[in-house]
Amino acid sequence: MSERLPELPPGAFNRVDESDDLEFYAPPRLVTHIDESATAALTAFYHAALPANGVIFDMMSSWVSHLPSDLPTAEVIGHGMNAEELAANPRLDRWFIQDLNADPILPLETASVDAALCCVGVQYLRRPIEVFADVRRTLRPGAPVIVSFSNRCFPTKAVAVWRGLNGAGHAQLVSLYLERAAFADVRVEVLADGRSSDPLTAVVGRA
Ligand SMILES: C[S@@+](CC[C@H](N)C(=O)[O-])C[C@H]1O[C@@H](n2cnc3c(N)ncnc32)[C@H](O)[C@@H]1O
Repeated sequence: MSERLPELPPGAFNRVDESDDLEFYAPPRLVTHIDESATAALTAFYHAALPANGVIFDMMSSWVSHLPSDLPTAEVIGHGMNAEELAANPRLDRWFIQDLNADPILPLETASVDAALCCVGVQYLRRPIEVFADVRRTLRPGAPVIVSFSNRCFPTKAVAVWRGLNGAGHAQLVSLYLERAAFADVRVEVLADGRSSDPLTAVVGRA
């Protein structure tokens, strides 16, 4: 499964719990996965990084998208694993459910999206290069993907390589995912260093 990542050991994308992901996410979890300060740092980053009046794709979403309340958008398209969570997200104009480990191809038009967001979900992807290559297909040329992550996860569903790395390693791994998916200008932004809140790092690439 280490497609286009030959430097990773065999089993890098294995998980402790290989049961059906849609079943795992069937009970709605209307909780927050990062604390208030880390969320505020992400929202401020989105404020600076996202275009106004754009089409935003929030992948691996739930009932919150962390978008600035004053950011005007043309459309926010959500993706996730639980209908109740996505229906409760007030920022989404429309949404769909898809297990990206089963099918990494998105039901979105080529070059139709102005920014793609992935907050605290990347650790669950078994086919990250296929997924991010398809995210790149959906983005307009030059549009950003912003992949953010903290130090928390459902450990049984996170891939082995994620569980074996620390924060700096996670940033390198996500950078590698985006580079292998042919994103340009890949850079790492530490949004919260973890001293007074949950740590939060964003890796940004451009289509
Ligand atoms: C920790 S939650 C993060 C939710 C939201 N982005 C947030 O910031 O609160 C992880 C999310 O990853 C997504 N996810 C997990 N496994 C997935 C899979 N196999 N395919 C697609 N999405 C998945 C689900 O949408 C789940 O809600």
